[in-house]
Amino acid sequence: MTKNITLLPGDGIGPEVTQEAVKVLKAVAKKFGHGFNFDTHKIGGASIDSFNEPLTDKTIAACRSSDAVLLGAVGGPKWDNIEPTIRPEQGLLKIRSSLGLFANIRPTKLFNCLKNACPLRADIACKGVDFVVVRELTGGIYFGKKQTLKGNDGKVTANDTLSYTESEIERIARVAFNLAKTRGNKLCSIDKANVLDSSKLWRSVLNRVATDYPSVALSHMYVDNAAMQLIKNPSQFCTIVTENMFGDILSDEASALVGSLGLMPSSSIGTTSFGLYEPISGSAPDIAGKNIANPIGAILSAAMMLEHSFGLKTEAKAVEAAVESALAKGHRTADITISSDNIKPISTSDMGDEIAGSI
Ligand code: IPM
Ligand code: MG
Repeated sequence: MTKNITLLPGDGIGPEVTQEAVKVLKAVAKKFGHGFNFDTHKIGGASIDSFNEPLTDKTIAACRSSDAVLLGAVGGPKWDNIEPTIRPEQGLLKIRSSLGLFANIRPTKLFNCLKNACPLRADIACKGVDFVVVRELTGGIYFGKKQTLKGNDGKVTANDTLSYTESEIERIARVAFNLAKTRGNKLCSIDKANVLDSSKLWRSVLNRVATDYPSVALSHMYVDNAAMQLIKNPSQFCTIVTENMFGDILSDEASALVGSLGLMPSSSIGTTSFGLYEPISGSAPDIAGKNIANPIGAILSAAMMLEHSFGLKTEAKAVEAAVESALAKGHRTADITISSDNIKPISTSDMGDEIAGSI
């Protein structure tokens, strides 16, 4: 099978971790006889530096004409004081919306051999953490009308609008129900329907769509309670569906349960097999360029690409198994090294070599 992959390494640790994911994809191509072509473009701060905008039309066109996109991360202190409309993060939001990638899938799984990296009490951690967050990605407060106004009295008011249409909610609900059918038939929808109109609509659409999925048990939870339940009893969750900003916040919280943000992959998908795959760790400017970042989130994102965009399930499983085997052998990057383990952390590129080597 031949596939064209657009690489958007971006900023901070993005290029370092993307490079390791590419290393692993090359190992997969070799082992299973596929041809993956890579074409690299700029996004975020790297694009601002070259083109004075965080995402060019040329880059969007390159992504569109490829089979899948692998993205590193965007942003960093260098661009913090830049004009807000061209901040690096705008490049990420624009690529998600221009490509119609409305569903963001964030698997949250605590590996057996990393149980001691989980900050929860052992009696909670031993019950396991294995759920997927389905985050709505192209609506809500991220994309609603926003403005900052100075009144006649010289005082400034800023506002952002959290708005959802029924059809935006329905399409993300269907993605979540379909996923829930493959993961224990349990779906928890998280909202703030005791306060927000957008959440009341969210809940009523979820309840309506649920009638098309009689095998799935749908429950609802308020977001404040969910933030607590994730810590108190994470094993209750199988599939979670929630709006854009709640999903952003809860998935970072969830990452702490599995030991490190650096382990977390994601896929952003629409209605076709095309997708954008990125670790959720962000650009981590404090450790960028040091070859110490954890590449596993990027590598597992590549596995999600193999499965969803290319239909290569066996190859995806091989990558996941290679990650587990590297961890089981005791290899750790600094973020998942526990002092009591007495293990010397390995570098980003060594972890990539380990994983690619056991494909
Ligand atoms: C994420 C990130 C982005 C988001 C930022 C960088 C715009 O936090 O992918 O979770 O908020 O969506
Ligand atoms: Mg985030």
